[in-house]
Amino acid sequence: MNDSKEYPHSGYAILPFIDRPLSFSGSFLSAISNAYRNNQRLDMWSHEKHIQSLSERNLTSFGRVFRAAVQGGVVIDLGCGIDDRTAWAIPLISGCFGAKKYIGVDRHRQEKSEKREGLEIEYKDMEILHYLEQMSVNGKIVVVMSGLEFSDGVSADDRVQITQQFYNTLKERLPRGSYIAVGPSGTSPELLDAPKRVFNHVASAKEGHTLFSTN
Ligand SMILES: C[S@@+](CC[C@H](N)C(=O)[O-])C[C@H]1O[C@@H](n2cnc3c(N)ncnc32)[C@H](O)[C@@H]1O
Repeated sequence: MNDSKEYPHSGYAILPFIDRPLSFSGSFLSAISNAYRNNQRLDMWSHEKHIQSLSERNLTSFGRVFRAAVQGGVVIDLGCGIDDRTAWAIPLISGCFGAKKYIGVDRHRQEKSEKREGLEIEYKDMEILHYLEQMSVNGKIVVVMSGLEFSDGVSADDRVQITQQFYNTLKERLPRGSYIAVGPSGTSPELLDAPKRVFNHVASAKEGHTLFSTN
């Protein structure tokens, strides 16, 4: 059986944090995959025991740095995705890595608030820029952006400029001591360069995910 065909979309989002040889040779991703296939409505937290059972040595070096950044903080997932079925990895990882709150923001997300295993979860149906304008969050913030492009109806040149502007705005809105995790989005190197011009590099994963800090 080729498990890779069965992985839920969000399974890939876990790879930067968990040692790849273990993920592929061991049962972690196939357990997730099986659970996903067998559940009409996947309860993402049913996988928590798999993640919790992972010891320190099973995290990638990026996973360890990310865990330290997330611990005790508020994770804000911009462009989080539209439902639990496709976008469960970041909330789950936030919970397992000791975040106190997860806020998912997406313009196509149904709003809801819940508490899972000690983690407060809130979804906001909002434009990202609108959210940032009115954001009021206390404590350490870790912004996550994965698979996000500012491409709607704009030319390639404008896209680079808009992306750059976005990171400048984000920096203005974030308190010192915040982190920004950027996942691979599209193919343009200029887009990936934009956060590098604004934030300090902390760590990168093989898959291209990069963690930055505000100071
Ligand atoms: C490719 S999906 C990525 C989902 C998730 N972050 C992941 O990595 O699986 C991009 C998401 O960003 C949302 N999005 C894009 N631009 C946005 C904006 N300006 N404001 C709010 N949501 C946005 C889309 O609705 C979509 O759900």
